[in-house]
Formats: sequence, structure tokens, C-alpha cells
Amino acid sequence: MSDASINKEAPLLRIRDLQIEFGRHDGEPVKAVKSISLTLKQGESIALVGESGSGKSATALALARLLPEPPASISAKEMSLNGHHILEMNERELRAIRGKEIAYIFQEPSTSLNPVLTIRTQIGEALALHRPDVAKSDRDDEIVKWLDKVGIVDSRKRLRAYPHELSGGMQQRVMIAMALCTQPKLLIADEPTTALDVTIQKQIMDLLAQLRRDLDMSIILITHNLGIIREVADRVAVMFRGEIVETGPVDEILRNPQHAYTKALLACVPRMGAKQPRLKAIDYATLA
Ligand SMILES: Nc1ncnc2c1ncn2[C@@H]1O[C@H](COP(=O)(O)OP(=O)(O)OP(=O)(O)O)[C@@H](O)[C@H]1O
Ligand SMILES: [Mg+2]
Repeated sequence: MSDASINKEAPLLRIRDLQIEFGRHDGEPVKAVKSISLTLKQGESIALVGESGSGKSATALALARLLPEPPASISAKEMSLNGHHILEMNERELRAIRGKEIAYIFQEPSTSLNPVLTIRTQIGEALALHRPDVAKSDRDDEIVKWLDKVGIVDSRKRLRAYPHELSGGMQQRVMIAMALCTQPKLLIADEPTTALDVTIQKQIMDLLAQLRRDLDMSIILITHNLGIIREVADRVAVMFRGEIVETGPVDEILRNPQHAYTKALLACVPRMGAKQPRLKAIDYATLA
């Protein structure tokens, strides 16, 4: 997509009435996402929180049409990126936005890193594909720059490393470097820290917050954990059974949650110095 074709007036992302179904061989399709509407301006970030199975990942993957269709079937009144309608794009146009405009990081580095390729080859491929401005002879320097940005020490030495030679936290950082080296407009981070221990979790969230400021990037952060969203997100949308049941500025939702599910989620956030009550089971009968 050339910059000239980008509609500067349009928000970065506009979703109106997104619906996603998964077909099944034996019976009715599963309605994973019932009706989602969301608008995001460039530089704005949102946390998508909600229980397991509420449709967070399906929504995120649909944005770059990464859900296999079928079994998925996606419809929307509008789903656009900078005014370009994603549901009308052909495979070539979709490939052009994946990685370049919308980049993903997932929970498990093993789903994104190739075990038989060195770090240099993997990040180098992303640069070769999406950063024609970086000459081949400058690629190593560019890779080192991104490894430094995500806090990998001795970055030049790591160029020759294979993923298994790095710790889980380092692999996660490499994955973030690989996603960000293309300078995407929108980063989708789907449970990016769940597999990591708490100190590394904090470092990665600090890193995302800082990179967001440096690059004026938008982030959709998907998590179950309301405790980690404040630094990275401006707004939060709470998903429940395929719908957004509550949305607003992070501080407001954290201070004054309305929906019973949001209250239950907040009750699970540990607070420094507070005695932790036992986690309460959610009483589904009381929820809409
Ligand atoms: N490829 C698929 N085929 C069939 N059903 C699917 C597929 N992917 C997701 N679903 C269903 O869609 C619903 C939403 O799943 P999704 O993965 O979006 O949930 P989630 O909110 O990301 O949950 P989690 O927090 O556990 O990651 C679930 O009922 C799930 O079983
Ligand atoms: Mg998920």
C-alpha cells in the first residue's frame, strides 16, 4: 500500500459490527464473535480483556484475515485499515499489510520463531520483505539495532544464535524485535507475556509502552490480566461471549467497573500490600 493511497482522515482501524462464525461438520456453526465495533486512531492503544473463549484471538486474527476461511466466516458492516476495506482485499493486498501494517506477537515464541533458522536469518527475512529502504549490506546493523531496542545484551553475538540457545524471555524479545522491525502501524499482542515469569512480564510491558511512544504505534493488547494494561493501553474493551460488554478509558474502568464480569476480573488483580482474597468463581447465572 503506498502512502499516497492512505486516507489521512480515516482512523487507523474502524470495525463496525464484526461477526465471526466457525463452521462445524456436525451441526450449527459456532458464533465466536457476535457483534464487535471498535475504532482506533493512529497512536491509540486498547486492551481487549475477557475470559477464555470470549473471542479475543478470533477478533485479532480476523483483522489481517489470518483465520482460515473456511472454517471461519467473517462479516462486518466495515472493517478498514486507514480507510482500506480489509474484507475486500485480495491475497496479494493482504500479504502487503501483514507484517508491514499489522504485526502480531503471540504468547508462545515457538509459534513465530523457526527453530532451524538463526536470529539473523529470521529478522533478516522480515526486513527483506518489508523494509526495502534497508540495503542488504546494512541489514545486520538494522537487526542489531532492533535487538538492542528490545534489550538483548551482546546483540551482535546473538545474530548467529538459534532460538533454542536463548531463554524464553529472550525468545519473546526476539519475536517482538521481528514484529517491530517492519515498523507496523498496528501491533497486536495476544497474551504476549503469559508464558513468562513476572519480572520479565513487567520488562516486556515497559518495553511495549516505550516502543509505542517512540514509534507512534497503535497496540491492541489481548490479556486476561487487568493488572498489566494501565501502562500500555488508553482504553479497555471487555469481551464476554463474543461481545464487547464494557468499554472506556482504562482508569475509569479500573476505578468504576460496571459489568459483573469486569468486576469479577478486577477482583482477580493482585494489589501490593493487600491481603489476597481467594479467587471467586464467576456466577454465570447472574450475567447477561
Ligand atoms: N479454528 C477454530 N475452529 C473452530 N472454533 C474456533 C476456532 N478458533 C476459535 N474457535 C472458537 O471460537 C471461540 C472464541 O475463541 P478465541 O480463541 O477467540 O477465544 P479467546 O478469547 O482468545 O480465548 P483465550 O483467552 O483462551 O485465548 C471459542 O468458542 C473457540 O472454541
Ligand atoms: Mg486467545
